[in-house]
Amino acid sequence: MKSILSIRNLSVVYPGVRPVTALENVNLEISAGEFVVVAGVSGSGKSTLLRAINRLVENDRARVTGSILFDGKDVLKASRRELRELRSHIGFIFQEYNVVERLSVLTNALTGTLATVGTWSSLLGRFPKAQVELAHRALERVGIPLPRHGDRAARLSGGQKQRVGIARALMQKPRLILADEPVASLDPITANIVMNIFKKINEEEGITTIINLHDPVLTFKYGKRIVGLKQGRVIYDKPITAINRETFEEDIYGSGDGA
Ligand SMILES: Nc1ncnc2c1ncn2[C@@H]1O[C@H](COP(=O)(O)OP(=O)(O)OP(=O)(O)O)[C@@H](O)[C@H]1O
Ligand SMILES: [Mg+2]
Repeated sequence: MKSILSIRNLSVVYPGVRPVTALENVNLEISAGEFVVVAGVSGSGKSTLLRAINRLVENDRARVTGSILFDGKDVLKASRRELRELRSHIGFIFQEYNVVERLSVLTNALTGTLATVGTWSSLLGRFPKAQVELAHRALERVGIPLPRHGDRAARLSGGQKQRVGIARALMQKPRLILADEPVASLDPITANIVMNIFKKINEEEGITTIINLHDPVLTFKYGKRIVGLKQGRVIYDKPITAINRETFEEDIYGSGDGA
């Protein structure tokens, strides 16, 4: 299948008195439509990997080397304008939900269209009718019923806030969804509901999805391909069909070398 993301010899070093090499020579080839779970213990580099893909690590003045090709374009060489354009195709979902509490559920979803609608009109609450319709549909798609769309986001549960985050990402019509520990703050039942939404979107719309998870149970249950990181290196990369359930936890989280 066609490659949507080619990560070659990617290294990321955070500066400081003692610089931290968070990723070292990472190579990954992701095909369009894949559903990849990135696993690894705390500090293995999962967040850094996702944040490198849309160059968020630059906010931490990280030194990034290698190349990241998204649809054949080198993300690391993109100008500011090109980067904005690249980012508009990537939906990013965080552990901490990132909804604006004082705004309505609907307006939160609509902020996913900022790149197309423009900041000013959105601040004035002037969204085109078609976008408003799309937002209602995106919210319903993630299981937030119409009567709740006017509620303030502050009134939602954690699981509902995360669903609004997904709806907002969907409003971008993303080609790639990156989710960094999206269910880490949720109880097990809600975590499964949210993971099933990611699964459904991937299967029904074919949107390439990369999700960081630290829970081995969820990783094994939902990953169609599992990439294991350890101390910034890829030590495991297998399709679910080739994974040995018995040894997989030890391979990824254990003290051995894995793979
Ligand atoms: N802004 C930063 N400045 C300096 N070092 C950082 C920064 N962010 C992460 N690191 C370091 O880089 C390494 C990888 O961190 P990263 O957050 O990518 O790991 P992670 O796998 O996402 O961990 P967790 O499961 O705890 O979220 C760690 O050693 C971490 O301490
Ligand atoms: Mg992390």
